[in-house]
Amino acid sequence: MADVHICEVGPRDGLQNAQHLMPTAAKKAWISALAAAGLKEIEVGSFVPPKLIPAMADTAEIVAFAKTLKGLKVVALAPNFKGFQRALEAGAHKITFPVSASRKHSESNVRMTPEQMIEEVRRCAREPHPGVEIEGAVSTAFGCTLQGEVPEDDVVRIAVALAEFCDFVALADTVGYANPAQIRKIFKRVFSAIGSKLEAAHLHNTRGLGLANALAAYEEGVRHFDSSLGGLGGCPFAPGASGNVITEDLVFMFESMGVKTGVDLGRLLEARKLMAQAIPQEPLYGHMALAGLPKGFRAAA
Ligand code: COA
Ligand code: ZN
Repeated sequence: MADVHICEVGPRDGLQNAQHLMPTAAKKAWISALAAAGLKEIEVGSFVPPKLIPAMADTAEIVAFAKTLKGLKVVALAPNFKGFQRALEAGAHKITFPVSASRKHSESNVRMTPEQMIEEVRRCAREPHPGVEIEGAVSTAFGCTLQGEVPEDDVVRIAVALAEFCDFVALADTVGYANPAQIRKIFKRVFSAIGSKLEAAHLHNTRGLGLANALAAYEEGVRHFDSSLGGLGGCPFAPGASGNVITEDLVFMFESMGVKTGVDLGRLLEARKLMAQAIPQEPLYGHMALAGLPKGFRAAA
C-alpha cells in the first residue's frame, strides 16, 4: 500500500490554541524529539503579530533552530504579506497561507475576504522566494461555525485560484465538520479540477471523525496529512474549534494497515511525554497513548 507523509502541526496549530505558553527551550526539545521520531515535516509556528498570539512570538528563533535538524522540512504559517516576509527572512522551507472558503471565518481570522486573501497570497508568490515552497490551505472547506454551510463551489473556485500560483493546495476541516462521504466528494472534485497540486488533508477531530475522514481521504488518493501530537489544536478565530487529528492515532492506524508513515511510535510517545511535561496543565487526547500498542503489533514493513 502507498506510503503516507505526515506533517506534524502541533507546534503551530496546537500551541496557538493552548491555554498555556510553552517556553522556547521546551519547544526546541519537543521539535527535536518529533524529528527523532521520524517526522520529516513540522509546522513549527506562525508569523502573526505576537500581540495577537503570544505563543507564536518566538517563531523566528524556532525556525532557525528547526533548520539545524537534518532532513526536516520546516514549515511556517503566514497570514499576510508581512508574515510572508518574516517567514522568508527566518528561512522557512515552506510557507502555508490560510485561505478560508467561508467569508465570515476569513474576515474573523485574517481580516480579509477570501478574494482579498487570494490576492494577498498571489502578491507573495510573485516575490522572489528561491527554493521556498508555498502552500495555499483552503480553510473551513467542509463547513464553518460562523457561516454554517460552505458551498462546495466556493471551495473548488478558491482551490483553482490558488493552484495558479501555489506549489501545493491543501483542504482544511478547520472546525471538524466533515464526514467521510463529504471528504470523498470534495477531494474528488478538487482533484479533478487541479490534479496533483492538491496535496494535503488538514483534519480536525472536533466531532470524533478525524481518523474516519483521514481514511476516506487516503482512499481518494491523498498521501499527505497534517496532524497534531496529543490532539492539541484549533483556530482561536473560529468559535468551537478544537484539536487536530491525533498524530499517534493516525500513525497507529496507518502502520497497522501496512501503510508506512516513517514514524516510530515508541519515540513518538517519548515526544508526547516531553510535550506533556512542558505544558502539564493542558488536556491531551489520544487513544493509542492511553491504551498502548496491541500485543504482537507490527509496524508496516
Ligand atoms: N507579523 C507581525 N506583525 C504584523 C503582521 C505579521 N504577519 N501583520 C501585520 N502586523 C502588524 C502591522 O505592522 C501593524 O503594526 P503597527 O500597529 O505597529 O503598525 C499591526 O500588526 C496591524 O497591521 P494590519 O495590517 O492592520 O493587521 P490587522 O490588524 O488587520 O490583522 C492579520 C491582520 C492578518 C495580521 C491578523 O488578523 C492575523 O495575524 N491573523 C492570523 C490569525 C491566525 O494566526 N489564525 C490561526 C491560524 S489559521
Ligand atoms: Zn487547523
